[in-house]
Amino acid sequence: MSKFKIRILESEDWQLYKMIRLCSLKESPDSFGATYEQESLLSDSDWFSRFQPNSDVAVALPLIAESDGHVLGLAWGLIHKSDLKTTHIYQMWVLPEARGKGVASKLLDEIKAWALNEKCSSIALSVTASNTAAVGLYRTRGFITVGQLEELRAGSGLYVQPMIMSFNAA
Ligand SMILES: CC(C)(COP(=O)(O)OP(=O)(O)OC[C@H]1O[C@@H](n2cnc3c(N)ncnc32)[C@H](O)[C@@H]1OP(=O)(O)O)[C@@H](O)C(=O)NCCC(=O)NCCS
Repeated sequence: MSKFKIRILESEDWQLYKMIRLCSLKESPDSFGATYEQESLLSDSDWFSRFQPNSDVAVALPLIAESDGHVLGLAWGLIHKSDLKTTHIYQMWVLPEARGKGVASKLLDEIKAWALNEKCSSIALSVTASNTAAVGLYRTRGFITVGQLEELRAGSGLYVQPMIMSFNAA
């Protein structure tokens, strides 16, 4: 794998985003609250609208990692209007063949720099508690567990652990 770079997805990338997101849901069904079955039913305008302003989101940073024009990974940083001090991370996923090479770490670095620039005081996420790779990623990058386990989705039998990185404590 040659050196990868991170770039921001723009609204005109919605079809690329749709492809990566559906791949991630199919490949890692236990990592996300949403399912491939649900999201594969979305219309093109639903996918496009994820890049448009809405009543819930203050500002978003949709990122992909690419190498030689091939997508290696995806992650969203997102700040909700209800809490402008917290950046949330969603949809983190790296292609299986690109794992273990620092792609997720670089996506996290970019989101952290953005969160600081947006004057946030913390970054929050939820990770499936049994997902050793993802929990290891977030722990080694400075996240700590907070709060109680919550069900990933009704009937899944899986639980997610909320984690947080506080810039004050970092
Ligand atoms: C979790 C995931 C995003 C990690 O991506 P990655 O690009 O392989 O991660 P990195 O190479 O940047 O690794 C960073 C750290 O994560 C941890 N890590 C990564 N893979 C690991 C594994 N299989 N087991 C244990 N720890 C692991 C290590 O601490 C690693 O640090 P190190 O390289 O200094 O040892 C990737 O495995 C993935 O996409 N999994 C499926 C989807 C998913 O679980 N998403 C998370 C949703 S919350």
